[in-house]
Amino acid sequence: MTLLADLSNLGVMNTEIKNLAGLIGQTVTLRGWVHQFRSSGKIAFLQLRDGTGIVQVVCARSDLDDTGWEAVGELDYEASLEVDGEVKQDARSPGGVEVVAKDVRVVGSSTDYPIQPKEHGIDFLLNHRHLWLRHGRQRAILKVRDEIIHAIREFFYERDFTLIDTPILTGSIGESAGTLFETEYFDLGTAYLAQTGQLYLEPAAAAFGKVYCFGPTFRAEKSKTRRHLAEFWMVEPEVAWLDSEGNMALQEEFVSAIIARVLERRRGELEELERDVSRLEAIVPPFDRMSYSEAIEFLQAQGSEIEWGADLGAEDETRLTDGRLKPLFVYDYPRAVKAFYMKENAEDPRTVKCNDMLAPEGYGEIIGGSQREDDYDKLLKRIREEGLPEETYDWYLDIRRYGTFPHSGFGLGLERTVSWICGLSHLREAIPYPRLMNRLSP
Ligand code: 4AD
Ligand code: MG
Repeated sequence: MTLLADLSNLGVMNTEIKNLAGLIGQTVTLRGWVHQFRSSGKIAFLQLRDGTGIVQVVCARSDLDDTGWEAVGELDYEASLEVDGEVKQDARSPGGVEVVAKDVRVVGSSTDYPIQPKEHGIDFLLNHRHLWLRHGRQRAILKVRDEIIHAIREFFYERDFTLIDTPILTGSIGESAGTLFETEYFDLGTAYLAQTGQLYLEPAAAAFGKVYCFGPTFRAEKSKTRRHLAEFWMVEPEVAWLDSEGNMALQEEFVSAIIARVLERRRGELEELERDVSRLEAIVPPFDRMSYSEAIEFLQAQGSEIEWGADLGAEDETRLTDGRLKPLFVYDYPRAVKAFYMKENAEDPRTVKCNDMLAPEGYGEIIGGSQREDDYDKLLKRIREEGLPEETYDWYLDIRRYGTFPHSGFGLGLERTVSWICGLSHLREAIPYPRLMNRLSP
Protein backbone atom coordinates (compact mmCIF):
# COMPACT_ATOMS: atom_id res chain seq x y z
CA MET A 1 0.00 0.00 0.00
CA THR A 2 2.31 2.74 -1.18
CA LEU A 3 -0.59 5.17 -1.15
CA LEU A 4 -1.09 4.88 2.59
CA ALA A 5 2.63 5.14 3.18
CA ASP A 6 2.70 8.26 1.04
CA LEU A 7 -0.27 9.77 2.85
CA SER A 8 1.62 9.59 6.11
CA ASN A 9 3.89 12.17 4.51
CA LEU A 10 1.09 14.67 3.98
CA GLY A 11 2.75 17.07 6.36
CA VAL A 12 5.95 17.05 4.30
CA MET A 13 6.39 20.64 3.24
CA ASN A 14 7.88 20.10 -0.17
CA THR A 15 4.71 18.56 -1.54
CA GLU A 16 2.58 21.59 -0.72
CA ILE A 17 1.77 23.92 -3.59
CA LYS A 18 2.54 27.04 -1.57
CA ASN A 19 6.18 25.92 -1.31
CA LEU A 20 6.79 25.19 -5.00
CA ALA A 21 8.53 28.49 -5.74
CA GLY A 22 11.47 27.30 -3.65
CA LEU A 23 11.72 23.96 -5.45
CA ILE A 24 12.46 24.97 -9.03
CA GLY A 25 14.12 22.20 -11.00
CA GLN A 26 13.10 19.51 -8.52
CA THR A 27 10.71 16.63 -9.04
CA VAL A 28 7.89 16.61 -6.53
CA THR A 29 4.72 14.68 -5.81
CA LEU A 30 1.61 16.82 -5.47
CA ARG A 31 -1.78 15.74 -4.23
CA GLY A 32 -4.92 17.70 -4.78
CA TRP A 33 -8.11 18.33 -6.73
CA VAL A 34 -8.70 19.44 -10.31
CA HIS A 35 -9.78 23.04 -10.06
CA GLN A 36 -9.89 23.67 -13.81
CA PHE A 37 -8.65 21.94 -16.91
CA ARG A 38 -8.53 22.22 -20.66
CA SER A 39 -6.97 19.91 -23.17
CA SER A 40 -6.13 20.10 -26.82
CA GLY A 41 -5.02 16.90 -28.50
CA LYS A 42 -1.64 16.01 -27.16
CA ILE A 43 -1.48 18.41 -24.23
CA ALA A 44 -3.66 19.20 -21.23
CA PHE A 45 -3.41 22.04 -18.72
CA LEU A 46 -4.88 21.59 -15.32
CA GLN A 47 -5.10 23.78 -12.29
CA LEU A 48 -4.42 21.65 -9.26
CA ARG A 49 -5.61 22.83 -5.84
CA ASP A 50 -4.40 21.37 -2.55
CA GLY A 51 -5.67 23.83 0.06
CA THR A 52 -2.36 25.67 0.24
CA GLY A 53 -2.51 27.05 -3.29
CA ILE A 54 -3.28 26.42 -6.94
CA VAL A 55 -0.70 25.52 -9.58
CA GLN A 56 -0.84 24.86 -13.28
CA VAL A 57 0.18 21.32 -14.22
CA VAL A 58 1.16 20.74 -17.85
CA CYS A 59 0.45 17.21 -19.04
CA ALA A 60 2.01 16.44 -22.42
CA ARG A 61 1.39 13.14 -24.19
CA SER A 62 5.12 12.88 -24.86
CA ASP A 63 6.05 13.11 -21.15
CA LEU A 64 3.61 10.48 -19.87
CA ASP A 65 3.31 6.73 -20.23
CA ASP A 66 0.04 5.23 -21.49
CA THR A 67 -1.53 4.86 -18.04
CA GLY A 68 -0.64 8.42 -17.11
CA TRP A 69 -2.08 9.82 -20.35
CA GLU A 70 -5.22 7.72 -19.91
CA ALA A 71 -5.64 9.21 -16.45
CA VAL A 72 -5.44 12.68 -17.96
CA GLY A 73 -8.14 11.71 -20.46
CA GLU A 74 -10.51 10.79 -17.62
CA LEU A 75 -10.13 13.99 -15.68
CA ASP A 76 -13.06 16.10 -14.65
CA TYR A 77 -13.67 18.97 -12.24
CA GLU A 78 -12.78 18.14 -8.63
CA ALA A 79 -11.28 14.71 -9.30
CA SER A 80 -8.50 14.03 -6.78
CA LEU A 81 -5.03 13.26 -8.10
CA GLU A 82 -1.44 12.50 -7.40
CA VAL A 83 0.98 14.11 -9.80
CA ASP A 84 4.72 13.56 -10.07
CA GLY A 85 6.33 16.37 -11.98
CA GLU A 86 9.14 18.84 -12.35
CA VAL A 87 8.79 22.36 -10.99
CA LYS A 88 9.54 24.98 -13.66
CA GLN A 89 9.79 28.72 -13.40
CA ASP A 90 6.96 30.40 -15.31
CA ALA A 91 6.55 34.13 -14.98
CA ARG A 92 3.02 34.10 -16.43
CA SER A 93 1.66 31.72 -13.78
CA PRO A 94 0.13 33.11 -10.57
CA GLY A 95 2.74 31.61 -8.20
CA GLY A 96 5.57 32.12 -10.70
CA VAL A 97 5.83 28.34 -11.27
CA GLU A 98 4.22 25.51 -13.14
CA VAL A 99 4.67 21.77 -12.90
CA VAL A 100 5.45 19.55 -15.88
CA ALA A 101 3.82 16.20 -15.15
CA LYS A 102 5.81 12.96 -15.40
CA ASP A 103 3.06 10.79 -13.99
CA VAL A 104 -0.60 11.37 -13.16
CA ARG A 105 -2.65 9.02 -10.97
CA VAL A 106 -6.35 9.50 -10.31
CA VAL A 107 -7.14 8.87 -6.65
CA GLY A 108 -10.86 9.63 -6.85
CA SER A 109 -12.79 10.38 -10.02
CA SER A 110 -15.51 13.03 -10.11
CA THR A 111 -18.29 12.90 -12.64
CA ASP A 112 -20.77 15.75 -13.17
CA TYR A 113 -19.51 17.90 -10.30
CA PRO A 114 -22.61 19.89 -9.32
CA ILE A 115 -21.05 23.36 -9.07
CA GLN A 116 -20.08 24.44 -12.56
CA PRO A 117 -18.29 27.62 -13.64
CA LYS A 118 -21.54 29.56 -14.13
CA GLU A 119 -24.03 31.49 -11.97
CA HIS A 120 -25.84 29.37 -9.40
CA GLY A 121 -28.64 30.55 -7.10
CA ILE A 122 -27.86 30.97 -3.39
CA ASP A 123 -30.17 28.09 -2.37
CA PHE A 124 -28.43 25.74 -4.74
CA LEU A 125 -25.06 26.77 -3.37
CA LEU A 126 -26.18 26.43 0.26
CA ASN A 127 -27.62 22.99 -0.50
CA HIS A 128 -24.14 22.12 -1.76
CA ARG A 129 -22.30 23.90 1.04
CA HIS A 130 -20.15 20.79 1.61
CA LEU A 131 -18.78 21.23 -1.93
CA TRP A 132 -19.05 25.02 -2.12
CA LEU A 133 -16.36 25.20 0.59
CA ARG A 134 -13.83 24.26 -2.11
CA HIS A 135 -14.38 27.47 -4.05
CA GLY A 136 -12.08 30.47 -3.95
CA ARG A 137 -14.35 33.04 -2.38
CA GLN A 138 -15.56 30.67 0.32
CA ARG A 139 -12.04 29.60 1.13
CA ALA A 140 -10.97 33.25 1.40
CA ILE A 141 -13.83 34.01 3.83
CA LEU A 142 -13.08 31.01 6.03
CA LYS A 143 -9.37 31.84 6.06
CA VAL A 144 -10.25 35.32 7.32
CA ARG A 145 -12.57 33.75 9.91
CA ASP A 146 -9.73 31.51 11.07
CA GLU A 147 -7.42 34.53 11.35
CA ILE A 148 -10.01 36.45 13.37
CA ILE A 149 -10.35 33.53 15.79
CA HIS A 150 -6.58 33.45 16.30
CA ALA A 151 -6.54 37.22 16.78
CA ILE A 152 -9.26 36.94 19.44
CA ARG A 153 -7.50 34.23 21.41
CA GLU A 154 -4.14 35.98 21.16
CA PHE A 155 -5.62 39.32 22.28
CA PHE A 156 -6.97 37.82 25.48
CA TYR A 157 -4.02 35.54 26.14
CA GLU A 158 -1.58 38.44 25.86
CA ARG A 159 -3.63 40.44 28.35
CA ASP A 160 -3.75 37.64 30.91
CA PHE A 161 -7.40 36.68 30.52
CA THR A 162 -8.26 33.09 31.48
CA LEU A 163 -10.42 31.06 29.11
CA ILE A 164 -13.46 29.65 30.90
CA ASP A 165 -15.54 27.21 28.87
CA THR A 166 -19.17 27.74 29.73
CA PRO A 167 -21.90 25.10 29.30
CA ILE A 168 -24.04 24.76 26.21
CA LEU A 169 -26.83 22.96 28.07
CA THR A 170 -28.14 25.36 30.68
CA GLY A 171 -30.87 25.51 33.27
CA SER A 172 -31.35 29.27 33.41
CA ILE A 173 -32.35 31.66 30.67
CA GLY A 174 -29.34 33.78 29.68
CA GLU A 175 -30.78 36.59 27.59
CA SER A 176 -34.48 36.41 26.80
CA ALA A 177 -37.24 33.85 27.00
CA GLY A 178 -38.35 34.60 23.46
CA THR A 179 -35.56 32.89 21.54
CA LEU A 180 -34.81 29.66 23.39
CA PHE A 181 -34.06 26.26 21.96
CA GLU A 182 -35.36 23.76 24.48
CA THR A 183 -34.67 20.11 25.02
CA GLU A 184 -35.73 17.57 27.62
CA TYR A 185 -33.07 16.87 30.20
CA PHE A 186 -33.42 13.50 31.95
CA ASP A 187 -35.61 13.90 35.06
CA LEU A 188 -34.71 17.54 35.54
CA GLY A 189 -37.17 19.10 33.15
CA THR A 190 -36.17 21.51 30.43
CA ALA A 191 -32.66 22.42 29.38
CA TYR A 192 -31.92 25.38 27.13
CA LEU A 193 -29.16 25.69 24.57
CA ALA A 194 -26.95 28.56 25.70
CA GLN A 195 -27.83 32.02 24.37
CA THR A 196 -24.73 33.38 26.11
CA GLY A 197 -21.99 32.20 28.45
CA GLN A 198 -22.06 35.43 30.43
CA LEU A 199 -23.94 34.27 33.52
CA TYR A 200 -21.32 31.55 34.05
CA LEU A 201 -18.45 33.96 33.41
CA GLU A 202 -19.40 36.45 36.10
CA PRO A 203 -18.65 33.95 38.91
CA ALA A 204 -15.34 33.13 37.19
CA ALA A 205 -14.42 36.84 37.11
CA ALA A 206 -14.49 36.74 40.92
CA ALA A 207 -12.09 33.81 40.80
CA PHE A 208 -9.67 35.03 38.10
CA GLY A 209 -10.29 38.75 37.57
CA LYS A 210 -10.22 38.68 33.76
CA VAL A 211 -11.92 35.83 31.91
CA TYR A 212 -13.52 35.06 28.56
CA CYS A 213 -15.50 32.35 26.85
CA PHE A 214 -15.72 31.66 23.15
CA GLY A 215 -18.14 29.17 21.72
CA PRO A 216 -21.33 28.45 19.86
CA THR A 217 -24.52 30.10 21.08
CA PHE A 218 -28.08 29.47 20.01
CA ARG A 219 -31.05 31.67 19.37
CA ALA A 220 -34.34 30.57 17.93
CA GLU A 221 -34.78 33.89 16.14
CA LYS A 222 -37.81 33.65 13.93
CA SER A 223 -36.42 36.30 11.65
CA LYS A 224 -35.04 35.72 8.19
CA THR A 225 -32.66 38.65 8.11
CA ARG A 226 -29.16 38.84 6.77
CA ARG A 227 -27.91 39.46 10.32
CA HIS A 228 -29.33 36.47 12.17
CA LEU A 229 -28.24 32.88 12.50
CA ALA A 230 -29.84 30.28 14.78
CA GLU A 231 -26.36 29.07 15.78
CA PHE A 232 -23.52 31.56 15.94
CA TRP A 233 -20.21 31.97 17.72
CA MET A 234 -19.77 34.59 20.36
CA VAL A 235 -16.69 35.68 22.28
CA GLU A 236 -17.45 37.16 25.69
CA PRO A 237 -14.90 38.70 28.05
CA GLU A 238 -15.84 39.55 31.64
CA VAL A 239 -13.68 41.81 33.79
CA ALA A 240 -13.75 42.51 37.52
CA TRP A 241 -13.47 46.16 38.63
CA LEU A 242 -14.22 47.46 35.14
CA ASP A 243 -16.96 50.05 34.59
CA SER A 244 -18.98 50.80 31.48
CA GLU A 245 -16.48 53.42 30.22
CA GLY A 246 -13.58 51.01 30.59
CA ASN A 247 -15.65 48.34 28.90
CA MET A 248 -16.00 50.51 25.78
CA ALA A 249 -12.28 51.26 25.79
CA LEU A 250 -11.59 47.52 25.88
CA GLN A 251 -13.98 46.95 22.99
CA GLU A 252 -12.38 49.51 20.69
CA GLU A 253 -8.92 48.19 21.44
CA PHE A 254 -10.13 44.63 20.80
CA VAL A 255 -11.87 45.26 17.49
CA SER A 256 -8.96 47.39 16.21
CA ALA A 257 -6.49 44.61 17.10
CA ILE A 258 -8.54 42.01 15.21
CA ILE A 259 -8.65 44.18 12.10
CA ALA A 260 -4.97 45.05 12.27
CA ARG A 261 -4.06 41.37 12.33
CA VAL A 262 -6.32 40.50 9.39
CA LEU A 263 -4.81 43.38 7.41
CA GLU A 264 -1.35 42.17 8.28
CA ARG A 265 -1.84 38.49 7.44
CA ARG A 266 -4.80 38.09 5.09
CA ARG A 267 -4.27 40.72 2.40
CA GLY A 268 -4.51 38.10 -0.35
CA GLU A 269 -7.88 36.87 0.87
CA LEU A 270 -9.24 40.42 1.23
CA GLU A 271 -8.12 41.07 -2.33
CA GLU A 272 -9.84 37.90 -3.54
CA LEU A 273 -13.00 39.20 -1.81
CA GLU A 274 -12.51 42.61 -3.47
CA ARG A 275 -12.72 44.23 -0.05
CA ASP A 276 -11.92 47.95 0.08
CA VAL A 277 -9.14 47.68 2.65
CA SER A 278 -8.93 51.45 3.12
CA ARG A 279 -12.25 51.11 4.98
CA LEU A 280 -10.61 48.66 7.37
CA GLU A 281 -7.42 50.67 7.74
CA ALA A 282 -9.54 53.51 9.17
CA ILE A 283 -10.59 51.35 12.15
CA VAL A 284 -8.37 52.64 14.97
CA PRO A 285 -9.27 53.94 18.44
CA PRO A 286 -11.04 56.02 19.54
CA PHE A 287 -14.42 55.09 18.06
CA ASP A 288 -17.36 57.50 18.02
CA ARG A 289 -19.75 57.65 20.99
CA MET A 290 -23.37 58.73 21.33
CA SER A 291 -25.83 58.17 24.17
CA TYR A 292 -29.11 56.46 23.39
CA SER A 293 -30.96 59.71 24.12
CA GLU A 294 -28.72 61.61 21.68
CA ALA A 295 -29.28 58.88 19.12
CA ILE A 296 -33.07 59.29 19.42
CA GLU A 297 -32.75 63.07 18.98
CA PHE A 298 -30.51 62.55 15.96
CA LEU A 299 -32.95 60.09 14.36
CA GLN A 300 -35.94 62.35 15.05
CA ALA A 301 -34.10 65.27 13.47
CA GLN A 302 -33.62 63.05 10.41
CA GLY A 303 -37.39 62.60 10.18
CA SER A 304 -37.69 59.26 11.98
CA GLU A 305 -40.82 58.66 14.06
CA ILE A 306 -38.95 56.73 16.71
CA GLU A 307 -39.84 57.68 20.32
CA TRP A 308 -37.61 57.60 23.39
CA GLY A 309 -37.96 54.14 24.91
CA ALA A 310 -38.08 52.14 21.69
CA ASP A 311 -35.27 49.78 20.73
CA LEU A 312 -33.17 50.70 17.72
CA GLY A 313 -33.94 48.69 14.60
CA ALA A 314 -31.57 47.76 11.79
CA GLU A 315 -32.66 50.80 9.79
CA ASP A 316 -32.01 53.15 12.70
CA GLU A 317 -28.57 51.64 13.16
CA THR A 318 -27.77 52.19 9.51
CA ARG A 319 -28.88 55.81 9.73
CA LEU A 320 -26.75 56.38 12.82
CA THR A 321 -23.62 55.03 11.17
CA ASP A 322 -24.23 56.47 7.72
CA GLY A 323 -21.18 58.39 6.54
CA ARG A 324 -19.06 57.33 9.51
CA LEU A 325 -15.69 55.72 8.95
CA LYS A 326 -15.43 54.14 12.39
CA PRO A 327 -17.78 52.09 14.52
CA LEU A 328 -20.21 53.96 16.77
CA PHE A 329 -20.90 53.19 20.43
CA VAL A 330 -24.48 53.85 21.43
CA TYR A 331 -24.62 53.72 25.22
CA ASP A 332 -27.09 53.83 28.12
CA TYR A 333 -30.23 52.36 26.56
CA PRO A 334 -33.59 52.27 28.35
CA ARG A 335 -33.79 49.44 30.85
CA ALA A 336 -36.94 48.11 29.24
CA VAL A 337 -35.29 47.12 25.94
CA LYS A 338 -32.25 45.42 27.47
CA ALA A 339 -31.51 42.24 29.46
CA PHE A 340 -32.28 41.95 33.19
CA TYR A 341 -28.66 41.82 34.39
CA MET A 342 -27.55 45.30 33.28
CA LYS A 343 -26.66 47.88 35.94
CA GLU A 344 -29.07 50.69 36.65
CA ASN A 345 -27.65 54.07 35.65
CA ALA A 346 -27.53 56.23 38.81
CA GLU A 347 -27.78 59.44 36.77
CA ASP A 348 -30.92 58.36 34.95
CA PRO A 349 -32.54 55.22 36.41
CA ARG A 350 -34.73 54.81 33.33
CA THR A 351 -31.54 53.65 31.62
CA VAL A 352 -28.83 51.03 32.19
CA LYS A 353 -25.02 51.18 31.90
CA CYS A 354 -24.64 49.39 28.59
CA ASN A 355 -23.53 49.85 25.02
CA ASP A 356 -23.90 48.41 21.56
CA MET A 357 -21.09 48.79 19.04
CA LEU A 358 -22.44 49.51 15.57
CA ALA A 359 -20.11 48.76 12.67
CA PRO A 360 -19.95 51.16 9.72
CA GLU A 361 -21.07 50.42 6.13
CA GLY A 362 -24.50 49.28 7.36
CA TYR A 363 -23.25 46.21 9.27
CA GLY A 364 -25.03 47.24 12.46
CA GLU A 365 -24.56 45.79 15.94
CA ILE A 366 -21.50 43.59 16.29
CA ILE A 367 -21.10 43.94 20.06
CA GLY A 368 -23.52 44.15 22.97
CA GLY A 369 -21.96 44.94 26.34
CA SER A 370 -22.75 46.27 29.80
CA GLN A 371 -21.75 46.85 33.36
CA ARG A 372 -23.59 44.24 35.41
CA GLU A 373 -26.00 44.93 38.24
CA ASP A 374 -23.96 44.20 41.34
CA ASP A 375 -26.62 45.12 43.91
CA TYR A 376 -28.43 42.05 45.23
CA ASP A 377 -31.81 43.70 45.81
CA LYS A 378 -31.90 45.51 42.48
CA LEU A 379 -30.94 42.38 40.57
CA LEU A 380 -33.58 40.27 42.31
CA LYS A 381 -36.16 42.96 41.58
CA ARG A 382 -35.25 42.89 37.88
CA ILE A 383 -35.49 39.09 37.73
CA ARG A 384 -38.98 39.33 39.24
CA GLU A 385 -40.04 42.18 36.95
CA GLU A 386 -39.04 40.13 33.92
CA GLY A 387 -41.04 37.16 35.23
CA LEU A 388 -37.96 34.92 35.10
CA PRO A 389 -38.00 31.71 37.20
CA GLU A 390 -36.29 33.01 40.34
CA GLU A 391 -35.14 29.65 41.67
CA THR A 392 -32.91 29.04 38.64
CA TYR A 393 -30.93 32.23 39.41
CA ASP A 394 -30.11 31.44 43.01
CA TRP A 395 -26.50 30.56 42.15
CA TYR A 396 -26.18 33.72 40.01
CA LEU A 397 -27.43 35.85 42.91
CA ASP A 398 -24.72 34.29 45.12
CA ILE A 399 -22.19 36.42 43.24
CA ARG A 400 -23.98 39.45 44.76
CA ARG A 401 -24.32 37.75 48.16
CA TYR A 402 -20.68 36.85 48.66
CA GLY A 403 -18.28 39.68 47.91
CA THR A 404 -20.13 41.53 45.19
CA PHE A 405 -17.97 43.71 42.94
CA PRO A 406 -18.40 46.06 39.98
CA HIS A 407 -17.78 44.20 36.72
CA SER A 408 -18.45 44.53 33.04
CA GLY A 409 -18.20 42.54 29.86
CA PHE A 410 -19.44 42.21 26.34
CA GLY A 411 -20.21 39.77 23.56
CA LEU A 412 -18.89 40.07 20.03
CA GLY A 413 -20.69 38.10 17.33
CA LEU A 414 -18.06 36.28 15.29
CA GLU A 415 -20.06 35.94 12.08
CA ARG A 416 -21.13 39.58 12.10
CA THR A 417 -17.49 40.53 12.48
CA VAL A 418 -16.39 38.17 9.68
CA SER A 419 -19.17 39.52 7.51
CA TRP A 420 -18.13 43.13 8.08
CA ILE A 421 -14.40 42.53 7.63
CA CYS A 422 -14.96 40.49 4.45
CA GLY A 423 -17.63 42.86 3.14
CA LEU A 424 -20.31 40.16 2.82
CA SER A 425 -23.97 40.88 2.24
CA HIS A 426 -25.28 38.05 4.46
CA LEU A 427 -24.13 36.13 7.53
CA ARG A 428 -24.70 32.75 5.89
CA GLU A 429 -21.32 32.79 4.14
CA ALA A 430 -19.44 33.75 7.32
CA ILE A 431 -19.77 30.30 8.96
CA PRO A 432 -18.88 26.92 7.43
CA TYR A 433 -22.34 25.37 7.92
CA PRO A 434 -25.00 28.02 8.55
CA ARG A 435 -28.02 27.21 10.68
CA LEU A 436 -30.95 29.33 9.59
CA MET A 437 -34.65 29.15 10.34
CA ASN A 438 -35.19 27.19 7.14
CA ARG A 439 -31.87 25.37 6.93
CA LEU A 440 -30.48 22.44 8.93
CA SER A 441 -28.61 20.70 6.10
CA PRO A 442 -25.89 19.99 5.16
O1 4AD B 1 -26.24 41.70 22.34
P1 4AD B 1 -26.22 40.25 22.71
O2 4AD B 1 -27.51 39.55 22.80
O3 4AD B 1 -25.40 40.17 24.06
C1 4AD B 1 -25.25 39.08 24.87
O4 4AD B 1 -25.55 37.96 24.61
C2 4AD B 1 -24.48 39.38 26.13
N1 4AD B 1 -24.70 38.28 27.08
C3 4AD B 1 -23.04 39.58 25.83
C4 4AD B 1 -22.24 39.94 27.04
O5 4AD B 1 -22.39 41.03 27.56
N2 4AD B 1 -21.41 39.03 27.50
O6 4AD B 1 -25.30 39.46 21.66
C5 4AD B 1 -23.97 39.83 21.46
C6 4AD B 1 -23.61 39.80 19.99
C7 4AD B 1 -24.41 40.78 19.14
O7 4AD B 1 -23.89 42.08 19.21
C8 4AD B 1 -24.25 40.18 17.77
O8 4AD B 1 -22.98 40.51 17.21
C9 4AD B 1 -24.24 38.69 18.06
O9 4AD B 1 -23.89 38.54 19.42
N3 4AD B 1 -25.56 38.09 17.81
C10 4AD B 1 -25.86 37.35 16.74
N4 4AD B 1 -25.13 36.97 15.68
C11 4AD B 1 -25.70 36.20 14.75
N5 4AD B 1 -26.97 35.75 14.82
C12 4AD B 1 -27.75 36.10 15.87
N6 4AD B 1 -28.99 35.63 15.94
C13 4AD B 1 -27.20 36.94 16.89
N7 4AD B 1 -27.67 37.46 18.04
C14 4AD B 1 -26.66 38.15 18.59
MG1 MG C 1 -27.60 43.01 21.51
